Amino acid sequence: MSIVTNAAPILCVVGARPNFMKIAPIMAALRAGPTPLPARLLHTGQHYDAAMKDAFFDQLGIPEPDIDLEVGSATHAAQTAEIMKRFEPVLEAERPAAVLVVGDVNSTIACALVASKMGVAVIHVEAGLRSYDRSMPEEINRVLTDQISDLLFTTERDAHLNLAREGVDDRRIHFVGNVMIDTLLGHLPQATPPARIFGAASDPNVFSRSATGYALVTLHRPANVDSPDILERLLRTLRRVSESIPVVFPIHPRTRTRIEAAGLSAALDTPRILELAPLGYLDMLGLMSKARLVLTDSGGIQEETTALGIPCLTVRENTERPITVEQGTNTIVGTDSRRIETAVADILAGGGKAGRVPELWDGKAAYRIKTVLNDWLKQGAPGRVARVAGR
Ligand code: UD1
Repeated sequence: MSIVTNAAPILCVVGARPNFMKIAPIMAALRAGPTPLPARLLHTGQHYDAAMKDAFFDQLGIPEPDIDLEVGSATHAAQTAEIMKRFEPVLEAERPAAVLVVGDVNSTIACALVASKMGVAVIHVEAGLRSYDRSMPEEINRVLTDQISDLLFTTERDAHLNLAREGVDDRRIHFVGNVMIDTLLGHLPQATPPARIFGAASDPNVFSRSATGYALVTLHRPANVDSPDILERLLRTLRRVSESIPVVFPIHPRTRTRIEAAGLSAALDTPRILELAPLGYLDMLGLMSKARLVLTDSGGIQEETTALGIPCLTVRENTERPITVEQGTNTIVGTDSRRIETAVADILAGGGKAGRVPELWDGKAAYRIKTVLNDWLKQGAPGRVARVAGR
């Protein structure tokens, strides 16, 4: 079992695209003066394409990873197992004070599990979110990661209640706000003007001169894109939506593969739908911040649109981020075509939800995390000691 000391670094883990905007402000805060905390960065390699990784590291100023496990894509079991196998010897050699994981992707649970079994403290940022839908792989990752975490940082107060219900000790939970919104607020001034992106359209005027503005769409959840029938229904819905508002659609690699395999490419073939490859952070932020509405199945985008005050329609039956519905601009519309089209029409007619920005989504979450971590390390990581001793 490794010994927790103040001098050992915090080993921060990233793996997939939504992790990058969360780790960026954490690395910056930990390494900032006047009292930097030693931190090292490990990338599992879950996402590896230039568009899925490099663009984010460059634009968000994330330091090159100190360690890259280069696992790549595979089935859930193979990917999770490969990360674990490659992470174990690294952890043995690094002997960090703690392993810090973010979000809910396979890299999150894989590294948390290895650390926990090696007696290394686990810190989970974005803990306690629950969709209560165990058919989502991310829900499994969330529940399990939280159970083996020593310090849990939450983005909204409901998360604390979820954790308490699952028996997590109150003293381990800290409500600090949302690190993804730290990144959003910090980069808004550099966001790409959408007109620059519309240059890729066959007729850019459809988008830049549209009286209704444009809708931004992202779809990548296995539940929405892996079944050809559901995918076809959603693409046909998008096509009909595009008749009332032009659609900008950056397509995730998973979705692109499924569209091609199902022979559905023609469904998007209209000058009113702009198909794009996955975008970098600043392009996406630029498009999101000026959209009339956003249609998405992403978790992060539900939060980003709430912070920006842009109406969001979530193409899922539930959300692990209820605050975006209760306080923000988010509406859950599911995958039923008529419901989606009615919700779009309502926004075009009435403006959509205005919402307000949730508590502590103020750009300072990473610094709050650092403050808590500082105290916790000074006290010798007390949660860990109690857990190992079985108290
Ligand atoms: C993963 C996360 C999901 C997150 C999403 C954001 C899990 C369980 N899921 O899903 O929570 O919302 O990332 O993107 O961790 N691929 C590439 N290039 C890459 C990475 C992937 O082409 O750099 C392709 C591969 O064909 C791969 C597929 O995308 O098989 C899916 O990638 P994977 O990491 O398995 O899951 P995501 O759907 O991206």
